[in-house]
Amino acid sequence: MYPFLVLFILVVISSICKGQHANLCNVIPKDLYIEMGSDIEVLCQTSCASGKIFWTLNSRPIDESLSNVINSSLTVLSLRTFTHHNATLQCHSANTQQILGGTTIRTYTKPSKLSCFFHYKNQHVDVVPHLFTCKWEHQMNSSLKIHYTVLYASLLRPSYTEICSSYVTTCTSKDIDLSDKVHFFGNASVIVRAKATAWEAYSNPYEFDHYDILQMIRPEVTVTAFPDHLLVEWTRSPSTRTCHCQVKYGKAVSDRTPENVQSTTLDPSQKGEYTIQSVESCTHYNILVRCALDKAPWSDWSRETTVLTKLNKSDVKLHLWRKVAEPKKNAIRNVHIMWTEIPSTCQGTFTYTIQQTPYKNYMTGANSTGSLCYSSPCDIDVNQDAHRINLTVFHGEILLTEDSVYVPATVESLLKVTDLQTSNLKGVILVSWKAPLQPVSGYMIDWTHNGNQYYWKESKYTNTRLLDLLDKKPYNITVTPLFGDKTGHGTQALQICSRVGNPGNVTIISVEAKDKSAILSWSTRSQEECSGAVINYTVFYGTQKGPTLNVTVDYTKQDLCLKDLDPDTQYSVYVKATALTGTSKSSERLFKTKRYDPRLSMALGVGGSIIIFLVLSLGLCCAIQWKKFREKPVPNPGHSSVALWSSPSYQKGMCHFQPFSNPPKSIYDQVYTVEPQRAPTSALATDCNGNQASDQAEEHTDPVIHLSLDAEDEKPVELVETQHLCCPGESTSLLSSGNSSFTPYRSQGSVETPAKQCKCVPVKQLEKTAPVTVYVTLDMFEQGQSK
Ligand SMILES: *[C@@H]1O[C@H](CO)[C@@H](O)[C@H](O)[C@H]1NC(C)=O
Ligand SMILES: *[C@@H]1O[C@H](CO)[C@@H](O)[C@H](O)[C@H]1NC(C)=O
Ligand SMILES: *[C@@H]1O[C@H](CO)[C@@H](O)[C@H](O)[C@H]1NC(C)=O
Ligand SMILES: *[C@@H]1O[C@H](CO)[C@@H](O)[C@H](O)[C@H]1NC(C)=O
Ligand SMILES: *[C@@H]1O[C@H](CO)[C@@H](O)[C@H](O)[C@H]1NC(C)=O
Ligand SMILES: *[C@@H]1O[C@H](CO)[C@@H](O)[C@H](O)[C@H]1NC(C)=O
Ligand SMILES: *[C@@H]1O[C@H](CO)[C@@H](O)[C@H](O)[C@H]1NC(C)=O
Repeated sequence: MYPFLVLFILVVISSICKGQHANLCNVIPKDLYIEMGSDIEVLCQTSCASGKIFWTLNSRPIDESLSNVINSSLTVLSLRTFTHHNATLQCHSANTQQILGGTTIRTYTKPSKLSCFFHYKNQHVDVVPHLFTCKWEHQMNSSLKIHYTVLYASLLRPSYTEICSSYVTTCTSKDIDLSDKVHFFGNASVIVRAKATAWEAYSNPYEFDHYDILQMIRPEVTVTAFPDHLLVEWTRSPSTRTCHCQVKYGKAVSDRTPENVQSTTLDPSQKGEYTIQSVESCTHYNILVRCALDKAPWSDWSRETTVLTKLNKSDVKLHLWRKVAEPKKNAIRNVHIMWTEIPSTCQGTFTYTIQQTPYKNYMTGANSTGSLCYSSPCDIDVNQDAHRINLTVFHGEILLTEDSVYVPATVESLLKVTDLQTSNLKGVILVSWKAPLQPVSGYMIDWTHNGNQYYWKESKYTNTRLLDLLDKKPYNITVTPLFGDKTGHGTQALQICSRVGNPGNVTIISVEAKDKSAILSWSTRSQEECSGAVINYTVFYGTQKGPTLNVTVDYTKQDLCLKDLDPDTQYSVYVKATALTGTSKSSERLFKTKRYDPRLSMALGVGGSIIIFLVLSLGLCCAIQWKKFREKPVPNPGHSSVALWSSPSYQKGMCHFQPFSNPPKSIYDQVYTVEPQRAPTSALATDCNGNQASDQAEEHTDPVIHLSLDAEDEKPVELVETQHLCCPGESTSLLSSGNSSFTPYRSQGSVETPAKQCKCVPVKQLEKTAPVTVYVTLDMFEQGQSK
């Protein structure tokens, strides 16, 4: 009975299981990873539900036509070119809206655009390449860590072998020449595998011929300069294959890579060489070369080679020109000769010779005078006749080239251009003119900003643009027509600035403030020659609080009366000059208006001054009257008879009479006539001169020098003492002031002279005579002077 029981239980369990299974609902497969853009089929088991079902992808219903009902328990959904990165797919019962099951679908992409090349570790030896580098692209929207492996298969080893792996989309295998996995024979194929934890993807295979992906080594270049070309040569491996190369060259300009690229194809046995034609003379050129096998990637550019080109005679353009000055008195004219020199980069020595030939002898070549000019410009003199000026250039001993230019005679009727017009635009001067009536071969335009340095150029047309001018400089421009081997007369344009700047600096010269007005004056000074002409001035003024007012005056005025100001208020003012080309401002100036009308205070001042003057005058009158009154009691010796003075010694001694009748020298002589007798009275002599006069007197025999030294040595104080001794009536202040300017040569018409003489009077008196009392008054001197 037990076996039956066991069987029964098994049947029940199996029937239960079967029943459950029958009622199961689900979506399979779960957690899908598919390749982006691939097709996919998903099943929905619908045993547990009845009726129709529908699908949603990221909660959006899917078109019913994609769903295919197999039988009551199974529905298949087919999705084509699935492109969602991450999607949730659900299966719903249409009757109950119940979710029967779901799955997530994520996509990955496979690596694409795989390319590889062989290259050399050592750029000098190209036997077997050491390096094999592959690159590919792989679009990943997550930061998933992916392990890439490069697999290689070749004719000799057809199964894919790992040769390199990395976590980035490039991978270089080193020392492949040592590995046995790579064989330079026939075609090979590479694929890259991307492996994440949940999926693995392979790129499409990349098939190649080894030589099609072999990058050549960088060529070694040598360049040789010839007068008319450059020969570029480079190394290439003795290969059995054709290669093509590129030569890149250009003038050596710092921070700029050469722009010209020329290609050349070399046959298997051909040497690497290329000729660069039409290079400029005496110019540094940079040259680079790279090469590649037929389909292979380019090698690296060779190292840059710099070469200096040789001078090609046909490149020498002297552009000889001349400026003829106005004739001087003797009809000699200075001719300023200029030409374009051979660039200093050219190797060798170049000698320039100028020859001037009167034009009438030019054809025969006679009568030329030569002069050596080391450089341009060069000045020579010619007379009033027409001349031809020749310039010859020697390169060492060899005649390189020559040029000539015509200097017309002083009186020669020649062609001229007319209606010469100039204008400036952003630092460029445009020049235009009208052609003369006769046909001309061209025009020479020359211009200068300082009269020393000239620039010149030829034009075929009746207008030209002068470029590279100095900013804000006035230019003198002359246009001369050329015809045949002669030149016409030049026509000079009005001086024109390359650019006109702001007006000159405005400076406020003065502000005269009154109580309710102020007179402002200013000036404009321009440091630059090309400052803009002022059209009008605007004066801005105002108090600190108040609004800023403005007054505009035209360029003719440089002063202005500011009216309606408040008294006793501080104002600030500045002046702005406006020109067509800009403006310039003066610095701000502060001024304060007066409290009262200055005319009132001036009237008050004048009145006060008059009163003070009157008072003072009155006082002075009184003082004079008082003095006169005081002086009366003193007897005036001038009015008395002086019999005593008839003695000759006294007449000599009376210095105050002498200077007015005799030359002063005689007075000084007198001083020294008494010298031998002075020894016993040296103490008194000291008193007179204010210092040790006796010793000095013996040393100096020239009386003039002696006195001049004395005068210098004397100090005002000493002199005052001395003079007290001599002239008790004198005012000391008068004497001391007179002393400072005393010289022995000054003799007459001054009060100090008698004072000086006076000091000697007592010496003689003491020596020879008994003391005599003498009264001297100022009036006496006055009388003496008037005699
Ligand atoms: C439904 O079809 C599937 C596949 O064809 C089959 O395995 C399954 O037994 C069928 N179910 C029913 C109930 O017929
Ligand atoms: C070698 O590969 C190239 C493509 O790189 C192909 O054109 C060529 O036919 C292949 N040669 C052979 C022998 O398969
Ligand atoms: C100078 O260059 C020109 C071309 O630019 C060429 O024809 C000529 O031969 C060159 N002269 C010399 C001396 O090489
Ligand atoms: C120049 O030539 C003239 C005649 O053509 C001759 O008289 C004169 O002497 C010559 N002068 C010189 C310096 O040779
Ligand atoms: C330009 O020409 C004027 C007018 O002829 C002349 O006065 C001035 O000196 C010239 N300036 C220079 C720099 O040559
Ligand atoms: C001052 O000159 C400028 C420039 O020509 C002009 O725009 C402006 O109107 C003038 N101002 C007055 C007040 O004339
Ligand atoms: C000058 O003042 C007037 C008003 O008086 C004002 O309209 C004008 O903008 C001022 N001009 C300037 C340049 O400030």
